[in-house]
Amino acid sequence: MIKTAVCGANGKVGKEVVEAVQLAEDTELVAKIDINNGEYVSVKDALEHTKIDVVVDFTQPKAIFENAKYCLNNGINIVIGTTGLSEEQLAELKDLSQKNKISCFVAPNFSTGAVLMMKFAREAAKYFDNAEIIEMHHNQKKDAPSGTAIKTAKMIAETNKLYTNGNCDEIETVDGARGAESFGNVHIHSVRMPGFSASQEVLFGSDGQTLSIRHDTSNRKCYMQGVMLALRYAYNHKEFVYGLDNIL
Ligand SMILES: NC(=O)c1ccc[n+]([C@@H]2O[C@H](COP(=O)([O-])OP(=O)(O)OC[C@H]3O[C@@H](n4cnc5c(N)ncnc54)[C@H](O)[C@@H]3O)[C@@H](O)[C@H]2O)c1
Repeated sequence: MIKTAVCGANGKVGKEVVEAVQLAEDTELVAKIDINNGEYVSVKDALEHTKIDVVVDFTQPKAIFENAKYCLNNGINIVIGTTGLSEEQLAELKDLSQKNKISCFVAPNFSTGAVLMMKFAREAAKYFDNAEIIEMHHNQKKDAPSGTAIKTAKMIAETNKLYTNGNCDEIETVDGARGAESFGNVHIHSVRMPGFSASQEVLFGSDGQTLSIRHDTSNRKCYMQGVMLALRYAYNHKEFVYGLDNIL
């Protein structure tokens, strides 16, 4: 049994991780850590009472770096879902992970479907010369476009082609109608309205055919398959990994 502690256990994603760890046959929930009404308030606090093989962290950007360093310096593998780590902080965590031979698995998106959508889009990009992205989210999302849309555009643009081809001279009679021009000329359109959780459609076109690659989520359980895969991977390999795509 993989002794697993969830940090941020009372949060929206953390609660789902607690349930997933309890349901799986090969993991044992040994600690629910949360500064807000947690069984323990920190990893250090939990460690005084139980052995921990892996910490899964869904807390907040200002907490994650210190949490991760503590785990890596104390022989505990960590799976990080919390966003907001800088490039420098990631580099430092990679160093610590390699030096101490402890896993640090970081993924900005744990939804297996979203990661596959991006991989499929990268593959399709080789065969099409026109591509646009429509991403749809709930209306409480602050940033636009989504990080996933930006990453998808970057992955499409890895071919070094430009993806608006053969279009006539365009005039926007309403500003923004053609969306934002991003990497490789891939236009991104962001929709914000209640009813959506997180969805994205990547459209490819060429003479006589279009291809749509679409992914929809309806709740936070969408992350659990990826989190559990990462948890098992982190337990079995003492490595630094950035991105779920590396193990799919
Ligand atoms: N990687 C992914 O696929 C993915 C998916 C969804 C959300 N996220 C990220 O996960 C994080 C959490 O998201 P959420 O929606 O569950 O947030 P949330 O605010 O609902 O939950 C965060 C929880 O962490 C607790 N917490 C904060 N600081 C802590 C600390 N120092 N120690 C222990 N507990 C602490 C809070 O009390 C809260 O219960 C965010 O950074 C979010 O962007 C990542």
